[in-house]
Amino acid sequence: MGDRPDHRGMGEERGTARPWDRSRVADTRSAGGAEEPVRGDRLHVEGPLNARSWALAALRRIEEDRAYVARLEPDAGLGPGARRTATDYVAGVTRWRRWLDHLIDATFSGQPENLDQRARQVLRLGIYELLYASTPPHAAVHAAVSLAKDVGAEKAMGLVNAVLRNLDNRRDDLPQPATGDPLEDLAIRHSHPSWLVKRWRDRFGIDQLTALLNWNNARPSHGLRVNRLRTTVADVAGELAELEAPQEPSTWLPDDLIRVTRLQPVLAAGLLTRGLCVVQDEAAALVVRVLDPQRGESIIDVCAAPGGKATYAAELMKDRGQVLALDVHPGKVKLIEAAAARLGLKSVRCAVADLLSLHELRDESGQPLARQADRVLLDAPCSGTGVMARRADLRWNREPGDLATLCKTQDAMLDAAAALVRPDGLLVYSTCSLEPEENEARVDAFLERHPDFGLESAAGLIPADLVDERGFYRSLPQRHGIDGGFAARLRRNRMVARR
Ligand SMILES: C[S@@+](CC[C@H](N)C(=O)[O-])C[C@H]1O[C@@H](n2cnc3c(N)ncnc32)[C@H](O)[C@@H]1O
Repeated sequence: MGDRPDHRGMGEERGTARPWDRSRVADTRSAGGAEEPVRGDRLHVEGPLNARSWALAALRRIEEDRAYVARLEPDAGLGPGARRTATDYVAGVTRWRRWLDHLIDATFSGQPENLDQRARQVLRLGIYELLYASTPPHAAVHAAVSLAKDVGAEKAMGLVNAVLRNLDNRRDDLPQPATGDPLEDLAIRHSHPSWLVKRWRDRFGIDQLTALLNWNNARPSHGLRVNRLRTTVADVAGELAELEAPQEPSTWLPDDLIRVTRLQPVLAAGLLTRGLCVVQDEAAALVVRVLDPQRGESIIDVCAAPGGKATYAAELMKDRGQVLALDVHPGKVKLIEAAAARLGLKSVRCAVADLLSLHELRDESGQPLARQADRVLLDAPCSGTGVMARRADLRWNREPGDLATLCKTQDAMLDAAAALVRPDGLLVYSTCSLEPEENEARVDAFLERHPDFGLESAAGLIPADLVDERGFYRSLPQRHGIDGGFAARLRRNRMVARR
């Protein structure tokens, strides 16, 4: 830590004000990127337990209770293969929901509103299997008809059979939407909400928009960040090759990451549990490169769970110095602790803390904790429009009005995070959003409010193609082939009067 103030006063040992122990759990539905604590209750599965019946129960929970796809763990009674299949069904049907509903409504001869809801859910799954899974058509139809019976939609069994057979016969000439509005048709065909499609068309133009929609609908591949304190990219690549696991080098961070299409071999080989790797997209890892943490420094990651960026920062610092990883959710702080332990990192300290109360913090002598950290990372809750390929339900859980609420929270968080940065220290603001309101507009508003901070370029820290003309890091899925990400470097002036 050199001659910097010692951050031990910032952790759990301190006896004075500790807002991070109060575990204030915010309503995270409005704060994008901040998932709710896990709901531990089991799903009610109708009929015999298998991948389809579990997926159907999960899809019902997602629709009726707005449960998060990622938070629904397949039933332990299913074998590993069936668990993978169930997860794919849930993500796939959720992703394609609008298009699947269009196909149902275009094929069903009655009024769409008269279709039994359970029959609709069975049909969605059946069509997904027919069109996007490797299930043979006759098996998909047969399974859907029995599923209709299991869930008490016996009356709809004939209908389910007829709709699926019809679509199977027309699979090369599926009924296309014809609303009279080409953009609306595109939104239906690519299964996205119309407001997002219109917004992105204005921003990116039709070709990039279509590429982005296709990206969001494809099964995502995964970045595997190698823990270089324990092993090397070459060794992990060798182990994956022995397992015949498909892999390719990372385009943007080849020294630290490998891309894999399937996580199963990685899990089976124990690469995660042995602390040799973590799953992290390049887009997220690049934010830490923009932060550029150095050995011996004190870093605070104020929105740190589940810990992907905090642990990478510690690795880049060769585990020398301190990374204080904070998050408002106690359950999620445990995830950071577990990740740091698995990776063998000693420099990561974790605490439950509400960033918006951090200004209350004082050290043992009663001095504010402000202005001590060398670098602060604010990876803010956001709309998550850059990671919609990874989070199948996100597109349906966002509304245009969310942005204004999120921007307000981001401003408040930026102000709170800035207070922790020492003179001449660095604040990095990042999101996984593609929306300018959440990115450059927040930075511009911040610089207006904080004339003691200046914008610094990310050039030289990450590949040039990812740095825009203002020096922001920006990745676009349709252009760079990774998640969407944004980061800005904000340097506090060396000598400033206390605000
Ligand atoms: C985008 S995620 C952070 C991801 C993390 N940086 C990583 O790379 O693994 C945003 C996080 O902010 C947390 N959060 C939301 N509101 C907060 C607050 N008021 N104080 C601290 N953390 C908060 C959420 O719980 C969520 O884990």
